[in-house]
Amino acid sequence: MSRRKLAAGNWKMNGTGAALAELETLIAGHADPDVEILICPPATLLYRAAQLAANAPLQIGAQDCHPEDAGAHTGDISAAMLADAGATHVILGHSERRENHDESSELTRAKAKTAISTGLTAIICLGESLTQREAANTLDIIAGQLSISVPDASTAENTVIAYEPIWAIGTGLTPSVAQIDEVHDFIRTRLVARFGPQIGNGIRLLYGGSVKPGNAAEIFATDNVDGALVGGASLKAADFSPIIAALEASA
Ligand code: 13P
Repeated sequence: MSRRKLAAGNWKMNGTGAALAELETLIAGHADPDVEILICPPATLLYRAAQLAANAPLQIGAQDCHPEDAGAHTGDISAAMLADAGATHVILGHSERRENHDESSELTRAKAKTAISTGLTAIICLGESLTQREAANTLDIIAGQLSISVPDASTAENTVIAYEPIWAIGTGLTPSVAQIDEVHDFIRTRLVARFGPQIGNGIRLLYGGSVKPGNAAEIFATDNVDGALVGGASLKAADFSPIIAALEASA
């Protein structure tokens, strides 16, 4: 089954208005319909980013949402608010939220259900720590996170899974291609077993963790890698563009 490639940038807590110039450079440089480009800026930039990207082949996503539709939750942002600001996607269950805010797979699933019912595409993140990998627990950890974090409502259109080994995030370390291949194949098999071949083979799988212009091509050559979720190297168009180009070349 052919799946549309996705190059997604997660700006995390980086960027003020001046960073929007990077989006203009990206928009000017890419027009391959086989590769979807997504930037997830901080919430404060969502509206302006979405305005700038309107009618351009660049989508704008958020980095988190609250599981409830509305209510007394000071400082939180609902999925409907994100959509209203122009977001089409939302990253959920990122390891930085799991670690820094004690977020569980159960909470990630609740957020994903709300995001999906609001019309957003949920990008659900999974990944093992270095200790878990060294103890040969990677596939067990991934299986647990996957089965709990992904809601029954998931389809190929409304859900993307990102495999992000925690030890590879922001460290410059990456798993070997064989290790990425093993985990992505495992996730694919599990999705097919749970959702059937149509949905299970349709959900896109991204790799994330120290993706750079120099390693993107070999990562994208892996069978079940449908794109990347990129942190640091998505902040500057000069770094993200060659990653997108590597994905375009693999499409
Ligand atoms: P880096 O690309 O900076 O390692 O971050 C990956 C990530 O966490 C994307 O969500």
